[in-house]
Amino acid sequence: MLTAITREVSPSIDRCELTHRQRVPIDLNLARSQHREYEDALAGLGCRIVRVPLEPDLPDSVFVEDTAVVLGNLAVITRPGAESRRPETASVAEALRGYRELAFIEEPGTLDGGDVLHVGARVYVGLSGRTNEAGAEQLRRLLMPRGYSVTSVPMEGCLHLKSAAALVTVCVLLVNPERVDPGVFEGLSFVHVDPAEPDAANALRIGGDIIFPAHHPRTLEKLLERRIRVTTVDVSELAKAEAGVTCMSLVFTT
Ligand code: GLY
Repeated sequence: MLTAITREVSPSIDRCELTHRQRVPIDLNLARSQHREYEDALAGLGCRIVRVPLEPDLPDSVFVEDTAVVLGNLAVITRPGAESRRPETASVAEALRGYRELAFIEEPGTLDGGDVLHVGARVYVGLSGRTNEAGAEQLRRLLMPRGYSVTSVPMEGCLHLKSAAALVTVCVLLVNPERVDPGVFEGLSFVHVDPAEPDAANALRIGGDIIFPAHHPRTLEKLLERRIRVTTVDVSELAKAEAGVTCMSLVFTT
């Protein structure tokens, strides 16, 4: 069975971190209804939803992906690159403790889960404004004995590696080549985002399906041409907080 950890949108989301977007007002009710639609999409694809407690004073706390990396029987609790986000990890660690052995990224390492892309036993870590070499090295030391390779990946122009590349089938990577060099990902074939939709390289793969934002229609068309099964969600209000569809859940087998 698949479990998806999620968290309701914080009433303070208007004060979220922003790196590559201008701040605009966020309609909390709309953001919350879009988030419920997203949870419904996860449930429709077979996930059991486990909500961790609402964090009224942590603006970015809906983006649970950044707080942990779950691989095999291990959950690595991250040390997010944005200081304002570090208190988000405690409740997620508490939830994951029931399912996985825990390990922790420690100072001076920083790591956001959104920077970690795994393709089978190959793990790619984006060196972003949030994730540093020390964080990537700590992840490498935790994962290598468990049979994973860990490769640091340079990237630019976006918040996280998974704003630049995301797996859409077992061997096809959706990628924005302006943000990351596709050549670093060995053995995969590629779908490039439509150039008019630079933020479209984020998709959430659940088994043989993906969840994908409806507000990237040109890239959606390319995915459908490849016969990829897509559940679209309207996450346009959440995108104002620099969200992608992967950011709002932590999905793992139970
Ligand atoms: N607003 C999402 C982030 O900066 O982490």
